[in-house]
Amino acid sequence: MTLPPVLISEADIDARVQELGAEISADYADKDSIVLVGVLKGAFIFLADLSRRLTVPRTIEFIAVSSYGKGSRSTGAVRLDLDVRGNIENRHVLIVEDIVDTGHTLNYLIGILKSHRPASIRTATLLHKTEAAEVDVHIDYVGFGIGSEWVVGYGLDFAERDRTLPYIGIVQPGDG
Ligand code: IMP
Repeated sequence: MTLPPVLISEADIDARVQELGAEISADYADKDSIVLVGVLKGAFIFLADLSRRLTVPRTIEFIAVSSYGKGSRSTGAVRLDLDVRGNIENRHVLIVEDIVDTGHTLNYLIGILKSHRPASIRTATLLHKTEAAEVDVHIDYVGFGIGSEWVVGYGLDFAERDRTLPYIGIVQPGDG
């Protein structure tokens, strides 16, 4: 079995997560606390690392969504699989995503979380496929802009494979 070629190394991810942690901590320095909402499953590793880089008091919630339809392309229709369990009314919410591709998922998530009436909502994603946008959704914190290739590792999968690779790798045509 050959490993996917490296797009972003473990060291580069670590350095960027540290930078994002410092930026987010500074932006929320005047707040009592924030709630990080991690999007399952892909964001679990980014959330774990980012949350430990913050200095602002924080709590953790999870939300899970899936796209209708088969295949790797988003169809634009998103379904809620698991809503947040804690009360986030009047809290400062930071959505933590692994990757934004067309933007449909993040757009949907913002709508769902707004219905819980938080004090504010911001968005963070480790990766952003900058050429793939179909929905104009605002992202406050971006780790890395990438091309349209399918990537795995650091939480991201290809049909559940390679999720726990320590780096971001590129899936090769013919894999799987
Ligand atoms: P969007 O709704 O098109 O922005 O799709 C976002 C979702 O598609 C992400 O939360 C991922 O679950 C998935 N996704 C998109 N591109 C990739 C990729 O390159 N690797 C792994 N998952 C991806």
